[in-house]
This record gives sequence, structure tokens and C-alpha cells, in this order.
Amino acid sequence: MPTLLITGANRGIGLELSKHYLAQGWQVHACCRKPNDANALNDLAKNYQDMLTIHALEVTNESQMGSLKETLHNKPVDMLINNAGVYALEASQFGKTDDKAWDEAVAVNLIAPMKMMEHFVENISISGKKIIASMSSKMGSMDDNGSGGAYAYRATKAALNAVMVSAAQDLRHLDITALILHPGWVRTDMGGPNGEISAEQSAKMLAEILDNCSIEDSGTFFDIDGSVISW
Ligand SMILES: NC(=O)c1ccc[n+]([C@@H]2O[C@H](COP(=O)([O-])OP(=O)(O)OC[C@H]3O[C@@H](n4cnc5c(N)ncnc54)[C@H](OP(=O)(O)O)[C@@H]3O)[C@@H](O)[C@H]2O)c1
Repeated sequence: MPTLLITGANRGIGLELSKHYLAQGWQVHACCRKPNDANALNDLAKNYQDMLTIHALEVTNESQMGSLKETLHNKPVDMLINNAGVYALEASQFGKTDDKAWDEAVAVNLIAPMKMMEHFVENISISGKKIIASMSSKMGSMDDNGSGGAYAYRATKAALNAVMVSAAQDLRHLDITALILHPGWVRTDMGGPNGEISAEQSAKMLAEILDNCSIEDSGTFFDIDGSVISW
């Protein structure tokens, strides 16, 4: 069965994507910062003992990422989903630039997905599906920015899009498809209670895109309904 490697899998969209692919029979390597506190994932592991492996991964911690690389050495990874992300509320308002919040947004939303690709490209290249998907946001689209604010979030997601378009070019010779996804406005801790869809719906719709993509889609910025978002 295919294998998924996903970050930020303990709650929100990451948890629902993990559940979705487990239900489809995939092997799932679910990464989270604190496995001992990841109650929902630990509950899932009771039902999917042989299919779900939970790994400790703070995505800004390169030595943890290196250990995971060693653990997964020579194992095919069909799909890497860079899902972990932060909104960086303290770096969202004009006149209130907080360096620490900016640094965290850059580290988590931008550099970590890049490093995940670099660490696991070999695993992906020896798999059947060969997909890398990064969870971006429509808020990273210049065209869509009609309301301003969210400086660090918008900037890091826009830069993530640029990283993914370069990766799409650079990894094409390995037959790897690199996708950029907007999961919708989702009712999670980040999206808040007024979001338009549940995390379960979002995961189902994202999986529809992921299950039907091909190398021709590499470098595309997909909306949750499968349409293309302009940069
Ligand atoms: N919700 C929306 O409406 C929406 C819209 C557009 C895009 N997105 C994107 O979709 C992705 C998932 O969002 P969500 O709504 O599910 O968010 P969420 O409920 O806030 O969950 C965020 C996840 O990222 C993890 N994370 C944050 N910083 C991390 C770090 N340094 N190392 C490892 N994991 C870290 C969190 O782990 P902890 O539990 O340890 O904090 C959590 O698992 C994000 O990239 C987000 O930008 C969401």
C-alpha cells in the first residue's frame, strides 16, 4: 500500500488527512511535536496498529528531521504533505512588527517545507506516486489580497509558493509532482469557528485533488474545488 508522510498531524487538517489516508489503507507516518500529548493520533493508532507510525517532529528542529530521515532510510514515501503551519498573529498588523513571530513564520511555513523536501526527496523518488504537496493559502496570493494585514502569514505562504514552483521544475526529472494547495477556509484552531468547511470535508476534497493529479499539474496552485488560484 502507498505511504504518506505528513507534518502537523496531531490536529486540524493534518489529523483529518491522516485519518482519510488510513481509511484508504495507506501506511501513514504522522509527525507531531509532542507524540505523548497527541491524544487523537494515539487513539487512531489503537485502530491502525500496523499502519500508523507517530514520529516526534518539531519542523524547525533539523536534528529531529535528520533522525526521521534515518528512520525512513530506503523506505518509499509516495506522498509528502507539508501541512504544519503557523498564522503568526503577532506579525500580522502594520506598525506592530514582532521579529520573533516573523522568524517563527519563516521557519515553520517556509524553510521547514523546503528542508522536508530536501530530506525526503530520495524516499519520494523511489515510490510509486511521487507527490509532494505543501499546504499554502489563498492568503499567499497577491491577486486575492483585497484586505491587507496578515503580513508574515501572507508573505511566508507567497514565498512557499515560489519554493514549490522551483521544486516542481527541479524535481521534474525525477518524475516528482510538486503541488501547492489551499485547503479552503477550514474550521480548525487556525481557521476559527466561522470557517466554511470542516477539517474532515477539507481533507476529503484535498484528497480528491491529490488522488487525481499528474506530473502535468506540477507547480500548480490549487484551490480546494480543484480550480487554479492566480499568484
Ligand atoms: N484553517 C484554515 O482555514 C486554513 C486556510 C488556509 C491554509 N491553511 C493551512 O493549512 C495548514 C494546516 O492548518 P490548520 O488549520 O489545520 O492549523 P491548526 O489547526 O492550527 O494546526 C496546525 C498544525 O501545525 C503544527 N505546527 C505548528 N508549528 C509547528 C512546528 N514548529 N513544528 C511542527 N508542527 C507545527 C501544529 O502542531 P501543535 O499542535 O504542536 O501546535 C498543528 O498540528 C497550515 O499550513 C495552514 O497555514 C489553513
